[in-house]
Amino acid sequence: MSALTNKKILLGVTGGIAAYKSAVLARRLMDEGATVRVVMTPGAQAFMQPLTFQALTGNPVHVDLLDPAAEAAMGHIELARWAHYILIAPASANTLARLAHGMASDLLSTLCLATDSPLFVAPAMNRLMWTNPATVENCAQLAARGVTFFGPGDGAQACGETGSGRMLEPEQIRDQLLSTVADKFNSPPDHQPIQDKLRSKHVLITAGPTQEAIDPVRYISNHSSGKMGFAIAEAALAMGAQVTLIAGPVALSASPQIQRVDTVSAISMLDAVMAHVDNADIFISVAAVADYRLETVVNQKIKKSHENLTLSLVRNPDILKAVAALPKRPFCVGFAAETENVEAHAQEKLQRKKLDLIAANHVAGEDNAVFGTDTNALDVYWPATAKDTSGGHISIPSANKQSVAYSLLNIIADRLALIDQKSS
Ligand code: C5P
Repeated sequence: MSALTNKKILLGVTGGIAAYKSAVLARRLMDEGATVRVVMTPGAQAFMQPLTFQALTGNPVHVDLLDPAAEAAMGHIELARWAHYILIAPASANTLARLAHGMASDLLSTLCLATDSPLFVAPAMNRLMWTNPATVENCAQLAARGVTFFGPGDGAQACGETGSGRMLEPEQIRDQLLSTVADKFNSPPDHQPIQDKLRSKHVLITAGPTQEAIDPVRYISNHSSGKMGFAIAEAALAMGAQVTLIAGPVALSASPQIQRVDTVSAISMLDAVMAHVDNADIFISVAAVADYRLETVVNQKIKKSHENLTLSLVRNPDILKAVAALPKRPFCVGFAAETENVEAHAQEKLQRKKLDLIAANHVAGEDNAVFGTDTNALDVYWPATAKDTSGGHISIPSANKQSVAYSLLNIIADRLALIDQKSS
């Protein structure tokens, strides 16, 4: 059974070329066992016919706030109450602005005001509209009120430009809705009390791989997708933290309230971390930082003129170790991706890097694939200290990365609270 089975979903469709994808999205939601009713704004009707959605969903499509016949059949308050979830895809800049300002000038915005059901939005707009400070502020306000954002993605846009603002594909929206609903709204009971555990804490996170240039067209990197680090950033935000995310080169988007700094190499990641570490209470180093970089990066593309090529590499700085060595250091959390002897290596790293906690996972072979996948399992260890003479270990069983992120942050918040308690 899916997390959406027997759920009633109000699918809001607003004006934008991505509206054609909403027809497929409606079907994908129904495939999960959901009942779907569609509400279209006037802008959406310029791109798609209500009849298309009516034929697909088997339900009448709602378009008008002031139509007496429609109101007599199912009034807008009744419709707002009917929905377990409201999903707006595509969500235009105009609709996001109306929602942010609590307007009730069309049926969709009225429904969103008249409901206490969770609201999800999949924005779609031109890249400059998406990064316009007005839109950024509107989205930050909505996210702060608990609205969940899916995307937008990056890539070619209908207007001919390239950048951030593309609506995610229907299947991606379905998958993100499934995991968010499972995590946030159907979470196991032990997930419930964590919501506010990181309020007033500043969490600094690194995520993704780094790329170390060889020449202008080539680099050394690794398979890290950044998904685990991004999931931790989103979970920390949901738990009330102020989040700064130092990202390596990844194709992922983060909620607008997360302060994101994009970096490429280990050196640039170190610089960004050091520029933001001062007010951090917790540092979670999830990034798969390349251990080595080229001793010399040449300015021109290396020609294949020799049969063999030797590259001279030098060690990269250890960002986590550098943060842990700061005189006024945050609570330091490391990750250890190991192919064997997971516990021994994790314990050794915990001591050597002087960490407060380490999260270890096994990455050997296809069965234990972690890089790029949506699931993970962690073994979390912390050291014995003078104040707390017993070290500890908790296993987080295999689950989607969002769920694992909540479990890990829950442990971190508990450890930090204990340390705060003992030092006060
Ligand atoms: O020593 P190892 O690379 O296995 O340690 C992994 C942990 O150290 C991770 O938390 C990773 O983010 C961090 N790390 C780092 N800088 C490096 C190498 C690893 O911050 N140069």
